[in-house]
Amino acid sequence: MKTELIHEAAKVIWNAKHLTAFTGAGISVESGIPPFRGEDGIWSRYDPGVLDISRYRSYPDETWPVVNEIFYQFFAKAQPNKAHYFLAWLQQEGILKALITQNIDNLHQDAGSTDVIEYHGNSQYLVCTYCGERRKVEEPLVTDEVPRCSNEGALMKPDFIFFGEPIPQEAAMRSMAEAEKTDVMLLIGTTGEVMPASMIPKVAKRGEATIVEINTAETIFTQTITDLFLQGKAAAVCDLVQQEITRLK
Ligand code: APR
Repeated sequence: MKTELIHEAAKVIWNAKHLTAFTGAGISVESGIPPFRGEDGIWSRYDPGVLDISRYRSYPDETWPVVNEIFYQFFAKAQPNKAHYFLAWLQQEGILKALITQNIDNLHQDAGSTDVIEYHGNSQYLVCTYCGERRKVEEPLVTDEVPRCSNEGALMKPDFIFFGEPIPQEAAMRSMAEAEKTDVMLLIGTTGEVMPASMIPKVAKRGEATIVEINTAETIFTQTITDLFLQGKAAAVCDLVQQEITRLK
């Protein structure tokens, strides 16, 4: 990675008045969570139809065991990496004003970030599809037995959005408000292929924000809105940028 690029990115981030970050599945790959898309993606091994809300409601005995395997057996072992800690550090330094994530793995919070805007919800809770009761995911809740609500026995689902479900309203509104306010947005590990999430960086760009992108490969954003592209693995690149910001301080 060219040092001038790292230096440039560090300067832009350090001098930001209202820095925001927007993260996708790529930031958690080095924590052992595969991306969703691409050759080794989760959707190359599992049928994404298990996350179709009407199918989940109609065939829970068929879909829940797969959901359990992906999101509670795989995800459960993951620990935050240097990229998650970098964003937590920027927040503690008072530089990062808002963190918007498409991820449901809770790794930002595990790294110490607070007030994370979870655009697709969070896998740490189950919610009743009838009464809305939420319950923290703990053994013995996550077995292959379909989770049922203790109130009236209705079907429970992970508290993240399935295909066919709306974005949580508060997360949608706060994300748009931050995108309109920001002067620098840092994109880490996202394809920009998932709507409506991918609108957020575009709104920031329309507001003339500087877009800094970190990804192992070029994305839709790189070809359209990105000003500074740092090609590489998130943990390694964020570590270099953090060191450079520390030098600038
Ligand atoms: N460091 C940085 N970027 C990486 C790394 C890495 N180590 N590994 C992969 N990437 C990049 C890929 O190049 C790709 O652009 O991360 C992206 C991962 O793509 P997807 O899995 O499709 O993730 P994303 O674009 O964030 O999808 C959005 O879809 O299913 C939903 O909630 C889910 O958050 C997810 C959302």
